[in-house]
Amino acid sequence: MGRLTKALAITAFFAAIGNSFTHGFNTGVLNSPEFLIKDFLNVSTQAHYGIMPSEKLIRFLWSFSVSIYLVGGCAGAFSAGFLADRFGRKKALLMMIVPGLIGDALFGFCKLANSMEMLIAGRFIIGFSCGAGSGLVPMYLTEIAPVNIRGAMGVLHQLALTIGILISQLLGLRQILGREETWPLLLACSAVPFISCVCVLPFYPDSPRWLLVKKGNEEEAATALQKISR
Ligand SMILES: *[C@@H]1O[C@H](CO)[C@@H](O)[C@H](O)[C@H]1NC(C)=O
Repeated sequence: MGRLTKALAITAFFAAIGNSFTHGFNTGVLNSPEFLIKDFLNVSTQAHYGIMPSEKLIRFLWSFSVSIYLVGGCAGAFSAGFLADRFGRKKALLMMIVPGLIGDALFGFCKLANSMEMLIAGRFIIGFSCGAGSGLVPMYLTEIAPVNIRGAMGVLHQLALTIGILISQLLGLRQILGREETWPLLLACSAVPFISCVCVLPFYPDSPRWLLVKKGNEEEAATALQKISR
């Protein structure tokens, strides 16, 4: 019978923060600043292409910005299995934070650069990151958890995701970050959980199952198992 050790709890918490939470956040974050971003798409299209976009075009660009996240997500989800086996659950998860942060940087500067292309590219890239994470986090969590708490561990992913959506709605309120000057910052906010995950997760072990079965490294697997069960 395993128990929830401190190492296990910290690993699970930061894995969920670093990806499940950000996934939820990016799913919901465009809701509140919809009209601000539509204005931005309008202005940015005029500046870059010298045309006055019709309402239809703006609506198209808006839908495109929202949904390309899912296209990136599909690509990421397809890559998750390969990445997880090739690099290990934890390392793959950490690697996926790189595109996540690139996406956040693109969001943060898109208004400054007056570039809707940056917004759209950022949505695709961060979608890739979060899509891959949806495969990686549950895999990692269920593999490091002892059998008797495995179910509870798997649920963490969904829980963190929902909390991410909630927080994105709260931060998106006009009184907080849902304003004309601050919406790029709102979108870039998921950099905070990404970075907190990068600061903590490297010090915790990868899945013992992966180390043993895929990598064939008995010693490392034993060390990892010891670390998380102490
Ligand atoms: C786009 O912006 C211009 C002002 O630059 C405005 O006159 C126009 O109504 C806007 N278009 C839409 C569809 O909101």
